Amino acid sequence: MKLRNLIDFNDLTLGEWDELYELAVRIKKNPAEFRDRCRGKILATLFYEPSTRTQMSFQTAMMRLGGKVIGFSDPNSSSVSKGETLRDTVKIVTAYSDILVIRNPIEGAAYASALYSRVPVINAGDGGHLHPTQTLTDLMTISELKGSLDGLTVGLCGDLLNGRTVHSLIRALGRFKNNRFVLISTPELRLPDYVTKDVGENGNSYIEVKTLEECIGDLDILYMTRIQRERFASKEEYARQSGVYRLTTDKMKLAKPDLAVLHPLPKVDEIAYEVDDDPRTMYFEQAENGMYIRMALIAKLCEHERTGRSPAYPLPEGVCCPNPRCISNHEKYLPRLTKEVSGETRCCYCDSRL
Ligand code: NCD
Repeated sequence: MKLRNLIDFNDLTLGEWDELYELAVRIKKNPAEFRDRCRGKILATLFYEPSTRTQMSFQTAMMRLGGKVIGFSDPNSSSVSKGETLRDTVKIVTAYSDILVIRNPIEGAAYASALYSRVPVINAGDGGHLHPTQTLTDLMTISELKGSLDGLTVGLCGDLLNGRTVHSLIRALGRFKNNRFVLISTPELRLPDYVTKDVGENGNSYIEVKTLEECIGDLDILYMTRIQRERFASKEEYARQSGVYRLTTDKMKLAKPDLAVLHPLPKVDEIAYEVDDDPRTMYFEQAENGMYIRMALIAKLCEHERTGRSPAYPLPEGVCCPNPRCISNHEKYLPRLTKEVSGETRCCYCDSRL
């Protein structure tokens, strides 16, 4: 596989996605066949933000492939608490390991890490920006359930502004054909432009609605999300948004018999407890798939050779990224890197329009 770093789902070609999916399905059928696939390799997990599923699924994925795991889940227990830069941490940790998984609250941190890493880097969530391995998990689950990633009506409900899993999923499904996205949120938590801007290609389209009731009967997939409390500036702002959307058994009565309800988890109060027993809820199966697809990803990326010393980049000059949550405004040595997308100049780290 040519792919070296997975920072954004769009780093993958669709052929590479098919390869990963097929491998994950083979692993799920017969995990024992793969138990020595990464023997002798070490996965480093740097989690600067809380995580249960993502971190444990990466760790168990590597262990089930016969490899070993190092890392931290609390940056206060590492030199980060002494003020070490991200660049130094990455240089050190990738001198010790064969593959790096990073989660960080700052947008673009995974992209920045890949500049200095000697081994493949996987983005396990960069602030409210992207979460591509959750997308691999979601796509695997949708493919298994629906047999296709084209022609689906997909409702996405909740915190569409701050939910990185939603951003990654829409961008990924937007590469398939004739999907219709129904965006269910309050006006304050609408999807950011940089995501909606890319949706209109390949016969895909979106509409925005305010309630679940008005659209649930049309959906093939309902992707529920939690309101991302940690991304709000104040408790009051969070309180105004929490509890607005709640999936109940009454609402499920309006849905198609073959609706699949997904959720990246953790869920808080957006799904009533009773709904968990409805056979159309697939989030626990989805979380299990996360381990198999991460096994497939690790197995493929472990085939890459470690590189030598990372290149030297020029010190930053020119336009600053306007996004205060972008890593380039936090780690001041990072070069200013831009790209052209849909006729616009965007920041390479966080995708903001410059
Ligand atoms: C998600 C995340 O961290 O973005 N969780 C996960 O990785 N499964 C969703 C969330 O925290 O709401």
